[in-house]
Amino acid sequence: MTETGVSRISISLPLELLKEFDESSRQMGHEDRSKAIRAAMRSLITESMWTREERGAVVGALIIVYNHHVKELEEKLTDVQHHYKHVVASSMHIHLDEGNCLEIIAVRGESREIRNLAQKLTIRGVKQLKQAIITPQ
Ligand code: NI
Repeated sequence: MTETGVSRISISLPLELLKEFDESSRQMGHEDRSKAIRAAMRSLITESMWTREERGAVVGALIIVYNHHVKELEEKLTDVQHHYKHVVASSMHIHLDEGNCLEIIAVRGESREIRNLAQKLTIRGVKQLKQAIITPQ
């Protein structure tokens, strides 16, 4: 079957990730996997657009999950935050389990600086980084 403007792709991913993805998308009411993947892709594109856009003052949080066992990772993440202390308002550290830590970094300031900070925090051992950014009125 040929559908104009539609690409069929093949991707490799861990089985467990796929199971979790299917379960989550079912719970969010997506009818099928293709639709769920489209929604996830749009969400990634929106996030990426934020990181490219130039804006003024923002507030929000950077949320990261990282591997607790990666050597010197915790020190590196702390060093980066010290370097960006002009936009880091506060941070909270949660020990998730034996191997994972969650860190919530409250940010306030120039969006460009916060984008730079997010980029610097994306280092080996950081499994996920979410940016929850609000433009204050
Ligand atoms: Ni921890």
